[in-house]
Amino acid sequence: SDQCGIAVESRIDCGRDRSLSRADCEGRGCCYVPLPQSGLGGPPWCFYPVRYPGYKMGPLLPTEKGQRATLARSEPSYLPRDIPTLQLDVMPETLGRLHLTLKDPASPRYEVPFVTSQSRGHKDIQNPLYDVDFQPDPFGFIVRRKSNGRVLLNTTIGPLLFADQYLQLSTSMASSAISGLGEHYTPITLDLNWSSVSLWNRDMASANLYGSHPFFLVQEGDGQAHGVFLLNSNAMEVFLQPAPALTWVTVGGILDFYIFLGPSPQSVVQQYHEVIGYPMMPPYWSLGFHLCRWGYTSTNITRTVVQLMRQAKIPLDVQWNDLDYADQRRVFTFDPQRFGDLPQMVEEFHQLGMKYVLILDPGISSASPPGSYKPFDDGLKRGVFIKNSTGQILIGKVWPGPTAFPDFTNPTTQDWWMDCIRVFHSKVPVDGLWIDMNEPSNFVQGSVDGCPDSDLEKPPYTPGVIGGQLNSGTLCVSAQQYLSNHYNLHNLYGLTEAIATHRALLKVKSTRPFVLSRSSFPGLGRFSAHWTGDVRSDWEQLRFSIPGVLLFGLYGIPLVGADVCGFGGDTTEELCVRWTQLGAFYPFMRNHNDRPNAPQEPYVFSQQAQDAMRTAITLRYSLLPFLYTLFHHTHSSSSTVARPLFLEFPTDPNCQSIDRQFLWGSSLLISPVLEEGAVQVTAYLPPGTWYSLHNVIPPLMLYILNQHIPSNKIQTYCSKGQCILFPAPLDTINVHVREGSIIPQQVPALTTTASRRNPFTLIVALSVGNWAKGELFWDDGESLDTFEHGHYSYVLFFAQEVQNRVNFVKLNGSLDGLVLGEVRVFGVQASPTAVWANGQKVHDFSYSPDTKVCNKCLCFILIFKMC
Ligand code: GLC
Repeated sequence: SDQCGIAVESRIDCGRDRSLSRADCEGRGCCYVPLPQSGLGGPPWCFYPVRYPGYKMGPLLPTEKGQRATLARSEPSYLPRDIPTLQLDVMPETLGRLHLTLKDPASPRYEVPFVTSQSRGHKDIQNPLYDVDFQPDPFGFIVRRKSNGRVLLNTTIGPLLFADQYLQLSTSMASSAISGLGEHYTPITLDLNWSSVSLWNRDMASANLYGSHPFFLVQEGDGQAHGVFLLNSNAMEVFLQPAPALTWVTVGGILDFYIFLGPSPQSVVQQYHEVIGYPMMPPYWSLGFHLCRWGYTSTNITRTVVQLMRQAKIPLDVQWNDLDYADQRRVFTFDPQRFGDLPQMVEEFHQLGMKYVLILDPGISSASPPGSYKPFDDGLKRGVFIKNSTGQILIGKVWPGPTAFPDFTNPTTQDWWMDCIRVFHSKVPVDGLWIDMNEPSNFVQGSVDGCPDSDLEKPPYTPGVIGGQLNSGTLCVSAQQYLSNHYNLHNLYGLTEAIATHRALLKVKSTRPFVLSRSSFPGLGRFSAHWTGDVRSDWEQLRFSIPGVLLFGLYGIPLVGADVCGFGGDTTEELCVRWTQLGAFYPFMRNHNDRPNAPQEPYVFSQQAQDAMRTAITLRYSLLPFLYTLFHHTHSSSSTVARPLFLEFPTDPNCQSIDRQFLWGSSLLISPVLEEGAVQVTAYLPPGTWYSLHNVIPPLMLYILNQHIPSNKIQTYCSKGQCILFPAPLDTINVHVREGSIIPQQVPALTTTASRRNPFTLIVALSVGNWAKGELFWDDGESLDTFEHGHYSYVLFFAQEVQNRVNFVKLNGSLDGLVLGEVRVFGVQASPTAVWANGQKVHDFSYSPDTKVCNKCLCFILIFKMC
């Protein structure tokens, strides 16, 4: 019939919950039209007709926050336990943000705790960027961009289903360029060819993966963008199809949508972060190089690693230990033989100006003799562990054998956790904590006693998860937590552990906490960094680490990186060099390796490889003032650190899906080699002038580092928006500075403790109009809330035709005694006749007509001093 005349790419599957025969399909009132290409991974053969009956919407009435309507079904759906009546709330919260919820007015359902932080909404929104229309029967809504009438979301293309354990809503999409819905290994824009992604945190290095982020951003094609956040923590699957359209299916909770109208992609990200909270300000040292592996089996072996790094003159801020340190792999202990002098070792590292982090798994060993392992005995007494559906403590298996799992939604657990951390820290003064296995991961399905046969464990529909069941590789979802069951709270496990760990470190150390979490959920970035888990040491995973890292920037977790040189399997020297070069531009840079693998510390490789790695890491260290300033912006006003090109150049269609290159902020373009054997790289340069910096380390730094000064390394490219083939020999990562920017650097050293005392230098990359600007945020690098309390310095740099100017917007003691040692100006068209600094003539400036680089040109030496 006409009702079934829907274009193939727009057909919405009527049989997601099970596969349907013609009779089943038509029994649901759906259209049965098998196609040659239907089936797994293709268009559905059973799909909803136009205006498939569903909820009918009553009148919209004003409320304090917006408008409200009641939705009612006259007939049941094909799902068990329909919620027959729903309450729709439409809440315009800001000019760019619309909030829309669908709940059961009769009985409260689970809603996600912890996430929304600073939802600053207004009451009366005049002239918002959006318009909403409703189709009353069957219910659907349409969101338009008011300025151009573009339909951003249209949910009338399929039915709303809202049963106890099955909630579904479909929408059309304004374009096919959609990014988000992590955590998965995907390119920066998703595949819409009848694909799906499941959001259910899982320790599985190939699918589902560790985190859930039900947020996506859509590039509308004209430079504008919008975003959608479905605040729901239940197991979810999102289906994508070429129409373009998508369908959310979640197995619980409510439908709680935030729609962000941008209009720029960067403002979409900002609007999203306003809801989930701005990222934390990391300690300065956490931006240095971190070194870890599973298999540093004693303090002496760990000491040797640090020693060899220092001998190789490769910067290292943070030495790590994996599970090796723990006595029988039990957290909050250390092995009395192999790690008996762990406290001294940590002190020694501190003496070197370094920091120390170790792993902390959530599973608490439950098999030690009573009275011999306090964390468990105490936890038992205080009732901190997750219980099974019949009220006994749920026991699973992780690294130490049988374990109980703390329930971090319980305030008592948070206090107990803090006590454990306090006691341990009083012995081993760790600087940060690495919270792993917190999906939570479980080596047995559900528990050592299995799981009950119930609707929670076997819902009418299970999203595509590895192992086929929600309790695969984790806890029984019928397990009981303080705030709700694990079915609802599972995806929040890592977030709640991060909150508890952050809080404990804050109390115990009174400095900015450093926490690294594997599992994630929206809001994690307020408390923790993230790494992308167990990546293989191969070129494909190197390449996909870029979209992985960039997407976490969108998710509000900017301090992120992949294990440099790869975790699983043996790396090769070439791969490890290329990974170190790329890793030098991950916001979080840690080399980490699995137990059985060949070593991959920089010093194990050839001299040539070590030189290349040293150059890359030193380059990173020289740029840390710039990186830190980016983090400040992200923390104070929400932006991104490692940034996809489309965020910075939204109107350039070439940038839409670039994810082999990325930016730091708006000024540095990084184009790494991602293929074996390659010594050239094809990179896209957006329109404008770019200065290539094969080696950004300025002469002053090289002088101090006692390295050979490379000549002719700086070149100018005037791009019309084109791909250029750049040389990329093994010692080189291509980095380009964008015209108009001033990049603050600092002479690097083997630790940030040392480099923070070194002279600053500036790269001034003049624009065609002969100007440039930049900035520096500086504080002591570790005190709490320095921005919030005003304990920082903020410097603006301007370059104009005839002079450079430094504006001290705000100064405190943090810059005392620091020197601006050198200024390099790129793009000076003719040799300057004279150079003045602070009113005095500078005699030792140089100018290169080939490269148009002027060292100390227009230079000034400033001693930062509080006025
Ligand atoms: C997990 C982590 C990995 C760690 C290992 C042992 O696989 O992802 O980083 O080394 O556990 O603790």
